[in-house]
Amino acid sequence: MSAPAQSIELSPDKLFARNDRQIEAWKQSLRHRFLLYGGAAGGGKSFFLRWWCVFYLMVLFKFFQVRKAQVILACEDYPTLKDRQISRIQAEFPKSLGNLCLGETRDFTLADKYGGGRILLRNLDDPSKYLSSEFAGVAVEELTRNQEQTFHDLRLRMRWPGVQRPGFAGATNPGGKGHAWVKKYWIDRKFPAEMQALAKEFFFVQAKAADNPFLTQNYYEDLKTLPGPMQSAYLEGRWDLFVGQYFDVFTAARHVAKWRGDELVCPRTGSTYRINHSRVGDKWFAENWPKWVSLDWGFKDPSVVHWHATAPDGKHITYREWAVDGVTPRMLAEGIVERSVDSERRAERIQQFFISPDAFADREGQSTIAEQLRDVACRGNRFPSPAAASDDRVGGWMLLYQLLQGDEWLIAENCETLISSLPTLVRDEKNVEDCADSSVDHAPDSARYGMYSRFGPVRQSAEVRAAKAVEHVKDPTERAIVLEKFHEQERKKNQPVPLGSRHGGGRRWRPGQGGK
Ligand SMILES: Nc1ncnc2c1ncn2[C@@H]1O[C@H](COP(=O)(O)OP(=O)(O)OP(=O)(O)O)[C@@H](O)[C@H]1O
Ligand SMILES: [Mg+2]
Repeated sequence: MSAPAQSIELSPDKLFARNDRQIEAWKQSLRHRFLLYGGAAGGGKSFFLRWWCVFYLMVLFKFFQVRKAQVILACEDYPTLKDRQISRIQAEFPKSLGNLCLGETRDFTLADKYGGGRILLRNLDDPSKYLSSEFAGVAVEELTRNQEQTFHDLRLRMRWPGVQRPGFAGATNPGGKGHAWVKKYWIDRKFPAEMQALAKEFFFVQAKAADNPFLTQNYYEDLKTLPGPMQSAYLEGRWDLFVGQYFDVFTAARHVAKWRGDELVCPRTGSTYRINHSRVGDKWFAENWPKWVSLDWGFKDPSVVHWHATAPDGKHITYREWAVDGVTPRMLAEGIVERSVDSERRAERIQQFFISPDAFADREGQSTIAEQLRDVACRGNRFPSPAAASDDRVGGWMLLYQLLQGDEWLIAENCETLISSLPTLVRDEKNVEDCADSSVDHAPDSARYGMYSRFGPVRQSAEVRAAKAVEHVKDPTERAIVLEKFHEQERKKNQPVPLGSRHGGGRRWRPGQGGK
């Protein structure tokens, strides 16, 4: 709709008592086609959404002379729709506003004097059933409970004779299986190429519990007593830390390393790491650090590649990322080899190359994706042969979690897709040990393949294993000897690869070469 907000007599504050944030949301929905009103619990989002449907129909009638238009007010399933909206409509909407019908058609029809429009009360368990429907407007309650496809299915149905710019309004708390895609569009404002033209139509209004004067002080105080992630989602409405989030330990301040020249700096300790440098004073030959590459293969979906290394102090570092879509396996392999070079274009010594197991099953003509990748990447022994990554999802996610928790894994700032998608993954409601499928899980999948295939099932931290090793040793001298041996073995594990023993041979390392 393009009617300027100030010209609307049907001002929301005439129909509902003042809540400034709801009024702002309403005004923004007149200017933008896709509004999200999201955040903390109790801000008044659900209330806003049902009244949005009413005002929206009234405006269509009053300013565009569109009578009997239909909008859909939907929840992910019927019981929640009944709970969150239908019961409230029954209690809240005055008789003079229109008529609620809960028979075969569940809808609310506005009185004739308001244009006779209808609010269809529907669930989204199977959005394809609306394939031949038309909606002048769409309102979705708890949008993050829905997959991205549901949003696109509904967008497809947004059309109505006489309505130039049908509108969409979503209300939601952070979290849920759709958290990642909702955050991607409305908070991070990242849109695929085909949606770029729509980007300016997306608008986000942040809800805070404190916005709602109709909440009792007690409720507000109760929210403050919730445990960490629940408080951040429901009291503060934060999108970076929320209920159900898998990687709640991940923070940029702790795990994302910034480049300083050729060095990566650990944000927590200030330690520096030269991934590709021959020698710094009397330190390690960094070029010798164990390095490996992981790939989550996709053709329509993006393929994501990561380069990892282990530093002599045992820290694992994901230092490079390449996310690309629409390339063939051969182009991808060529691109990976081309990128496996330092800043002076000298070849890196990659020991292992793990790729998603589906690439070994998917065929394109005669050969599998993995075979095509191998044919190109391994030509002239320049890259190790691809190995099928372990697809033990639960084990893999647990390992990543533990590496983050133990500060054993650093991610370089240039791995942007991984950094932005890792914190959006949510626990699968059916199997809380697993992450729910998400449209942005390709980068985390690649990291999981890389780390889990390299290190296997979850390990305990060195400190815990050391404590276990001396658990039953009483004599202090003997304890010291056992500990010394333990740490010696740990050091050996993190030794650089001896020169000349590089997996698959390949280009020679030459002294004095470095860069990232
Ligand atoms: N403008 C308003 N006028 C009167 N009552 C309101 C208004 N806004 C919200 N309320 C009341 O405040 C309470 C909380 O509002 P609502 O349920 O819409 O919040 P919410 O943001 O959807 O909460 P949740 O995150 O828990 O779903 C409800 O009882 C609602 O009826
Ligand atoms: Mg609500």
